[in-house]
Amino acid sequence: MSLRSKTNELRKRMKSAASGGGDKAIEKQTAMGKLTARERIVALLDEDSFQEYDLFVEHAAKDFDMANKYLAGDGVLTGTGTINGYPVCIYAQDFTVAGGSLGYMHARKIVKIMDHALKLRVPLIGINDSGGARIQEGVNSLAGYGEIFYRNTLASGVIPQISVILGPCAGGAVYSPALTDFVFVVDKISKMFITGPEVIKSVLGEEISMEDLGGARVHASLTGNAHFYAESEKECFDQIKTLFTYIPWNNGKKAESFQPKQPKSRTFKLGSIIPSDSKEPYDVRDVIKALADESDFFEIQAMWAQNITIGFARVNGETVGIVANQPMYLAGVLDVDSSDKAARFIRYCDSFNIPLLTLVDLPGYLPGIDQEHAGVIRHGAKLLYAYSEATVPKITVILRKAYGGGYIAMCSNHLRADFVFAWPTAEIAVMGPEGAANIIFRKEIKEAADPEKMRLEKVEEYKQKFANPYVAAAYGYIDAVIEPRETRKFIVHSLAISKNKEVRLPNKKHGIPPF
Ligand code: HXC
Repeated sequence: MSLRSKTNELRKRMKSAASGGGDKAIEKQTAMGKLTARERIVALLDEDSFQEYDLFVEHAAKDFDMANKYLAGDGVLTGTGTINGYPVCIYAQDFTVAGGSLGYMHARKIVKIMDHALKLRVPLIGINDSGGARIQEGVNSLAGYGEIFYRNTLASGVIPQISVILGPCAGGAVYSPALTDFVFVVDKISKMFITGPEVIKSVLGEEISMEDLGGARVHASLTGNAHFYAESEKECFDQIKTLFTYIPWNNGKKAESFQPKQPKSRTFKLGSIIPSDSKEPYDVRDVIKALADESDFFEIQAMWAQNITIGFARVNGETVGIVANQPMYLAGVLDVDSSDKAARFIRYCDSFNIPLLTLVDLPGYLPGIDQEHAGVIRHGAKLLYAYSEATVPKITVILRKAYGGGYIAMCSNHLRADFVFAWPTAEIAVMGPEGAANIIFRKEIKEAADPEKMRLEKVEEYKQKFANPYVAAAYGYIDAVIEPRETRKFIVHSLAISKNKEVRLPNKKHGIPPF
């Protein structure tokens, strides 16, 4: 056979292998508003950068008439490419082929590209659109998932791992994403659950739609399983591209530096954001935008546990991870979910050499039976653990309230913040003036001729004495009390001076965080 005819044969084989599950299945996929696996990769990666591997892999199953079935590419595409010029390893499950279900060879393809990603120290992106373990392949499918979970765990904190949920993902198909760093979902397209509505109905008799059980909104706002929510696949891919501008390729590198830019100071003025009444709420994102280059803030888990705000920004061209109490929601208290949310993000930043900027304004941990019984002790401790363990540069700015455990937990000097600054509006105390006065002056208030007048006097006395930054500053717990308009200058300086920070933690295999 001549080279030409061999080339023609190769092209024919490639066409067949790249054809997915056939026209009917592709039509069904498109009718649901979904791109095909190949279209997704092309849309996400830089133009012409995708190099595919293992196109000719076929399944080896025999049972349930599988020997007579051809599954193109065994239902998954794998390869390498670039995003904004960054090298990445990628896989995309093809729902048009046996529902993207994961059989033995399908898993082998994924595992192979994961091994590449870890060896090459480049990010891994998984586009998941799968009915879970391929039922006909039994324990071999389960083995495949086990191999994936093991590698997700090994790669955790070494290379960024991104999961994109673009279809109904059931069973094993959701546990791999749960082990990765960031999960992206798209409205009406993404569904995630361990057991679907049918199983729930047959076992428990409960009825629920797929959307209500595990749709994109549910995971973005209720469970916290998703970190980014988009209205369309295109918007989702744009979010991923933006994320890649903030994070490094691997844990041995730093995020790329950009040209420093000033915040849009006309829109966001630091001096006028905080209301004079310390009980009034405000949007902490305005403070972040007043500090960030071009006032750009890339928020993570924006719809879940909104009493804490986390995300990336750049200050003077350098990526920082921001953790900020959000007084607009529950006065910015710490609770089970907000502690979980912040602690995980802190560990992400610490793993990938991203300095942490913490903005503090909270009345403390949320009291209540629900919180106590939901394990606020264990979950709240995650925050203490994550901040104490983090060795990246840690800069804290106390904007207003910093009461009780909240003061300590929000990256205080005692958890080894490198620099703690406080605005003149800061109130650093064991608890708020009202609560404190009621407790320590209970007797005086009770015995006074006019108890209410006495109470107000004592609240004022406590405020004068403790509701300010100067007591903490007198002990050196605050490094500087600064005017709000000086904040960016102090942060820029602190980041620059901390570039070569080196801290060695006690030698150990690993700690035992309060998971
Ligand atoms: C084999 C599967 C499959 C699976 C779907 N298909 N899931 N084949 N194994 N797990 C096939 C269907 O038979 C069908 O084939 C095609 O994919 C499309 O599926 P539909 O059901 O027609 O699509 P849709 O109506 O959109 O429903 C999607 C779905 C549903 C919700 C995902 O298919 C479903 O519930 N699948 C089973 C989910 C599940 O319970 N998986 C096992 C989880 S156990 P044809 O030939 O008709 O086109 C698991 C264990 C690992 O994962 C645990 C590790 C911790």
